[in-house]
Amino acid sequence: MALSLDFTNMFLPGVVTDAEWSESAGRLRGAHDAVMERHARGELGFIDLPEDQALLEQTTRYAERARGRWTDVVVLGIGGSALGPIALRTALRPFGWNGLSDEARAGNPRLHVLDNVDPDTITATLATLPLDRTLFLVISKSGGTAETMAQYLLVRGALDARFGARAVEHLVFVTDPAKGSLRPIATRESIAALDIPANVGGRFSVLSPVGLLPAALIGIDVTALLAGAADMRRRCVDGDLATNPAGTFAVLQWLAHARHGRGIHVLMPYADPLRDFAAWFVQLWAESLGKILPDGTSVGPTPVPALGATDQHSQVQLFMEGPADKTVTFVAVAGREARGPIPALHADVPDLAYLGGHTLGELLEIERRATAGALAARGRPNMTLTLDTVDPWHVGALIQFLELATAYAGELYGVNAFDQPGVELGKRFTYGMMGRPGFEAARDEFAALPQSDAS
Ligand code: PA5
Repeated sequence: MALSLDFTNMFLPGVVTDAEWSESAGRLRGAHDAVMERHARGELGFIDLPEDQALLEQTTRYAERARGRWTDVVVLGIGGSALGPIALRTALRPFGWNGLSDEARAGNPRLHVLDNVDPDTITATLATLPLDRTLFLVISKSGGTAETMAQYLLVRGALDARFGARAVEHLVFVTDPAKGSLRPIATRESIAALDIPANVGGRFSVLSPVGLLPAALIGIDVTALLAGAADMRRRCVDGDLATNPAGTFAVLQWLAHARHGRGIHVLMPYADPLRDFAAWFVQLWAESLGKILPDGTSVGPTPVPALGATDQHSQVQLFMEGPADKTVTFVAVAGREARGPIPALHADVPDLAYLGGHTLGELLEIERRATAGALAARGRPNMTLTLDTVDPWHVGALIQFLELATAYAGELYGVNAFDQPGVELGKRFTYGMMGRPGFEAARDEFAALPQSDAS
């Protein structure tokens, strides 16, 4: 079992130099020490999640009790409380999970994630659900996010109307152990509630019950998911650039950006199951690293999701010939060369005949190598992360790899990767305009903006 990083194509003329690389050993050591110091102070709880047996047991015990009871599970959440569950479902359940028969799902429920408040989507989703066989997971670290609370109120109204006092049986909250509005409601109404540790932030929470509970409910092996993450944690246990893969990734991305202007970081899996994983990474990298330094300078890379081979017919033209401001990280999956044999037909049509006898797996992998090589030939830096296979163990390892890389990158950029002050102002304006008590000043501030749509 392995997850490996090939970064040969970052050392191209005009990109990362050997001298920069050698100098970076001390830089990573400093970043690693800073991350570990915060961890030792009780922060950055995401580092402990792979070995948190209590949370694993909380999750598996609940999932075991729920087995066979529900045909549909619905996550109410947004941002870090939604992207992880979506990514896990797409990566680790068969293609088109929600459209499969009960038999093909082996009796496991469908999983819907309402990661927005678009009234049309929510109304349409609720209209199709068999309410009596549906469990709603209300996932919110803060227990107060407007979108998630609005989703909850809508669902709660429907459940109360249909089931009265038994509505609570259709609900489970995943939230901070002490803070927020959900926890007291859970206590008062005896609603099942699982914990997101206080020191784990939203976008770093996928290996807590935020991701584990939906995953376990649809039959994903969450023990293996955590085992893969724990293995990656061990591989990153010290700050040695020669052995720490997450540190290597962070340093290379930072060097390419800070020294060579490559501030757009593309993550491009060549595997459909990892399509939504790229969206999860985008939130992690963007919300963690896009910040204002104390001197007022704005910093941070811009992550971009892509999918191979699909985006070879779209964004790759830009990656190849557009501004030289990008790195591309491919995610390859090994061992699929035999999959999808292509029939040898149309022997008299050379443009088709050459494909016969090959496989789709082979074509996809060759396309990835060809694209990486072509980018390198044009001086465009790229790396390849290779997974032996897409299974819970490897996905767990990949999650921990990118989370640790984000923590290191925060130190390299000189920002706190674990806050998100930039999203607060918009939130305060929203609360003010929606009439939330305590936000009257924000409402007035918004109304006074010169070009605001204050109508
Ligand atoms: O990473 C973050 O902190 C955010 O993206 C949150 O996950 C998002 O705002 C949802 O927050 P909460 O889980 O508190 O409802």
